[in-house]
Amino acid sequence: MVIGVDYYPEHWAKELWVPDADLMQKTGVKLVRMAEFAWSRLEPREGVYDFSWLDEITAVFKERGIHVILGTPTNAPPRWLVEKYPDAVPAGRDGKINPIGIRGHRCYNHPDFLRHAKEIIERMTKRYAQNEAVVAWQIDNELEANFCFCKKCTEKYRAWLKKKYGDLDTINRLYGNEVWSGEYSTWEQIDPPLGNYPAAWLNPAYMLDFNRFASDDMIEYVKMQTEIIRRNCPGAKITTNVWFCENMPDFYRTFAGLDFVSYDNYPPTKLPEDEKEFYSHAFHLDLMRGVKRQNFCVMEELSGGPGCWAPMVRTPYPGMLSGYSLQAFAHGADAVVHFRWRTAVSGAEMYWHGLIDHSNVPGRRFAEFEKLCLAAEELKALVGTRIVSKVAILYSSDNEYAFKIQPQTNGMYYYEQLKLFHEALTKYGVNIDIIGEDEELLGYRLVIAPQMYVTNPEVVRRLYTFVEDGGTVVFTNRSGVKDAYNNCIMEPLPAPYRKLVGCRVLEYDPVGYDNVTIRFLDGAEYRAKQWCDILKPEGEETRVLACYDSEFYKGSAAITENKYGDGTAYYIGTVGERELYIRLVGEILQKCGIDFVEGLPDHVEVTTRSKDGFFARFIFNNTTKAQEFVLDERQVSLQPFEMQVETVKAKQEESFI
Ligand code: GLA
Ligand code: ZN
Repeated sequence: MVIGVDYYPEHWAKELWVPDADLMQKTGVKLVRMAEFAWSRLEPREGVYDFSWLDEITAVFKERGIHVILGTPTNAPPRWLVEKYPDAVPAGRDGKINPIGIRGHRCYNHPDFLRHAKEIIERMTKRYAQNEAVVAWQIDNELEANFCFCKKCTEKYRAWLKKKYGDLDTINRLYGNEVWSGEYSTWEQIDPPLGNYPAAWLNPAYMLDFNRFASDDMIEYVKMQTEIIRRNCPGAKITTNVWFCENMPDFYRTFAGLDFVSYDNYPPTKLPEDEKEFYSHAFHLDLMRGVKRQNFCVMEELSGGPGCWAPMVRTPYPGMLSGYSLQAFAHGADAVVHFRWRTAVSGAEMYWHGLIDHSNVPGRRFAEFEKLCLAAEELKALVGTRIVSKVAILYSSDNEYAFKIQPQTNGMYYYEQLKLFHEALTKYGVNIDIIGEDEELLGYRLVIAPQMYVTNPEVVRRLYTFVEDGGTVVFTNRSGVKDAYNNCIMEPLPAPYRKLVGCRVLEYDPVGYDNVTIRFLDGAEYRAKQWCDILKPEGEETRVLACYDSEFYKGSAAITENKYGDGTAYYIGTVGERELYIRLVGEILQKCGIDFVEGLPDHVEVTTRSKDGFFARFIFNNTTKAQEFVLDERQVSLQPFEMQVETVKAKQEESFI
């Protein structure tokens, strides 16, 4: 397992390069990422290139056996470029150019920006193609599905629509543009969402397509860069680093043409005071592993207290810095690159702390980092191991967009239910995949399908087949609400899934922050919030598991179970408290015959990586207190953020899948 650091040679006096690299080598750093913002140093004036410093520092690392990932520097075009082409900077919702303030100031469709971007990538990739130290390329940095409202982007948007729908009549029909006289009669009438209207005030069909376009447009930019890198460096691996930002691209399509997923992992340094409050950043790690269904890289990892973008927050608690890295390995990362080697002394990010503080005196966090490097070295046996799971949670970019466009009720957001299930599954120590909704389901026994809101007919078909063939699916409220265009389906909910779950929604009550109570047949009561689907069981084999115990629908079904074909489909019509999911998931895992661990304390995670009958089991204490518990009839004690690894060679007949 590889530990790396993000390094900015252009931020430091040259005299520091060698001592820095020496210390990295001594500490056990194996990988360095550089140059993703260094355009002005690589091309100080138009057409004047200077790679000498990058050659030099790359050589310093090469001599020390440290590999390099180079970022294409296109996130931060130099001043001369913006001076010459002021409209290379994205335009805001008023259609006017946003003044250049920070980084990320480039329109993905500006021809002069693209010409210069291509040129610098072309030169950089040619220059380092034969350099053995350079093992991978990162495209740009934390790309977002930008909303640029310039003329060129608008033209691209119209062309995207033309390609998708062919003619305006089709768009008018599928968007329902007759509402509020919104019909288009010329292509020029189609604009991006200008003006400062909340997304929910605009046509949801139009808004969903605009989000899809913005994502596709960003992906085209990724493809442009990929094509140059592949041509010049055929053997190199290509990635880009993503995070959960405001305008997220479709991760699955973004990485389809890339070699591995990179994720910027900044888990909280302040944990919730209430231990029962859920926090599940391991969710993000599992989601990232699921994007390509392969191991991934953390390209930026928490190293010190974050700040700058907001006032500073707590410094990482002892064990946290190394613990979060080890946790990433336990969830399928093969490399963790720490952001950053040393805290910047200048620039806007001077309070986003790195491994070493401004003083350049390695301190407590660095000592922890040293130990982490040693631990990573000891985890060599994990090379080639993977996480195999019988449980999948489905994720959909369309749903993410659609819920952001139309928040359903107070407090409800798309990720919450996915995380509630993830956390409940974590309580049972099973491996959890989070995969795109349109992935094949072969090999899974249990699929959690929360809020299947925007309907993709192929996904519906696959879920029916999966259950028919003996699988178990858990659906929740707000499923089958929208067609593929983000219009409401004119059928009782959960429209396409109604037969599968054996019940329909008679009426729903978006209770928002109000609390309701639900009661299971055994009398157990749970609090619920946000949403209540009043359910009517209608299948011959539909069982009611829990009913509402408050409100005017007291006694109506809230959670149901239905036999369908050889399998089972559950429907949860409300959003319960954490304990509700822990109970349900425990019962469902048992019924599915999936092995699980019992009695894990809150926030202790157990995951398994395996290969050819070799298993490594990780037990991780993701809290600030020591925890003692019994595992496999054995007492285990773990300090805060401590991880234990147990390896076992499986008996030959045991197949993991
Ligand atoms: C992101 C960026 C980095 C840096 C860190 C810390 O992950 O990619 O360049 O800004 O955040 O804020
Ligand atoms: Zn633009």
